[in-house]
Amino acid sequence: MIPLFILEFACLMNFSSKPFLALAPMAGITDSAFRLICRENGADLVYSEMANVSALYHRSAKTLELLKFSQAERPYIIQLFGKEPKHFTYAAQLLSKKGAPQINYRNPKRQLGFQPPDGLDINFGCPAKKVFNNGSGLALWLQPKLAQKIIRSVVQSTRLPVSIKTRIGLEIPERLRQTKNILDLPDFLKSLKINELGLSSIMLHGRTYKQGFTGPINYQAILRAKQYFSGTILANGNIKTPKIAEQTLKETQAQGLGIATGAYGQPEIFKLIKKRLDLTKPDPKLFTESQDKNRQGRKLLLNFLDQKITLALRHAHYVDLLKPTKGIIQFRKHLLWYFKGLPDIKKLYPLLTQVQTFSQVKSALAQIKKTMIKQKNFINGEKSIG
Ligand SMILES: Cc1cc2nc3c(=O)[nH]c(=O)nc-3n(C[C@H](O)[C@H](O)[C@H](O)COP(=O)(O)O)c2cc1C
Repeated sequence: MIPLFILEFACLMNFSSKPFLALAPMAGITDSAFRLICRENGADLVYSEMANVSALYHRSAKTLELLKFSQAERPYIIQLFGKEPKHFTYAAQLLSKKGAPQINYRNPKRQLGFQPPDGLDINFGCPAKKVFNNGSGLALWLQPKLAQKIIRSVVQSTRLPVSIKTRIGLEIPERLRQTKNILDLPDFLKSLKINELGLSSIMLHGRTYKQGFTGPINYQAILRAKQYFSGTILANGNIKTPKIAEQTLKETQAQGLGIATGAYGQPEIFKLIKKRLDLTKPDPKLFTESQDKNRQGRKLLLNFLDQKITLALRHAHYVDLLKPTKGIIQFRKHLLWYFKGLPDIKKLYPLLTQVQTFSQVKSALAQIKKTMIKQKNFINGEKSIG
């Protein structure tokens, strides 16, 4: 029997008319704690950090630990990267039969065993030197036969939905080109015979290899992909505010969005996008509205600060349970993101960048609140999420 959550996920991916919002995969960022805080704040599905299939093949306990998740994160997609079809087969079988380790945040010491995720994704978009030069990630565009073999090996080794994440173009330097160049997405999708591979969805980052992680998003290229792929398309890139989310959906006609750095310090972005798209609730321009220099504005701003503190604390609590030894040190970057843009916050950076324990996070947050309330220019905060 197919578990209910898989059916729900399949519905979400294939039949839902409402756009759905995914937390896109980010190495070093989308661990279980961050995924959970995003799910609690409106993300419809979440991706793991990318996991190296060769490491899984060689029984790396560290890689399995990276994939640890809690039931509350479902639907949870594990992203795989590599270049060896044999290793992809092994990883897909392992993850869909045995699964990944679990954590229960209410009782983290309890051993729960393993559970399969709700989907498997293959990375065809990573431009990082370490990955690209090794022939994995986006470099697989240069070997369409191998790319096809990899997708087939995963699809044939699992009953879970399989997706890929890639970019809209290669734009590689001349020296890296091979005889048969694949330079844009239609070429890549056509050479794969993408509709014959049994994929459920594609997440498309609207930038090329050359652009890396900055520069404009090519909405047209994402829109055009619909002509070549009949499954679900998620648009990704630069979705930092509800307004941009709305624009991205309109311009790309995608069925959903993948949000990556837009969730830095604002996991609530998913909720805010949903509010904006529903059009039933007021536009949540918290900071913009609160710039009216009146009492109501100050109240809104204080509410905003309280919300940020509550989110950051909850997130830190999960991190502390997930990774009791080094977690809070890794969490420092998130702390900076949560409060980025607040007036004079830089003065408090030394406090935020030295926390080592959960109780130090609590004191630092109390200190932030105390300092912010005292600020005369608190009312003119620059941070905007409209
Ligand atoms: C720190 C970081 C790590 C990333 N790791 C991955 C990854 O593991 N797999 C992947 O497919 N994309 C990865 N990406 C790319 C993002 O998923 C996303 O495509 C990109 O950041 C553009 O979206 P954004 O503008 O919303 O940030 C990463 C991006 C960043 C910034």
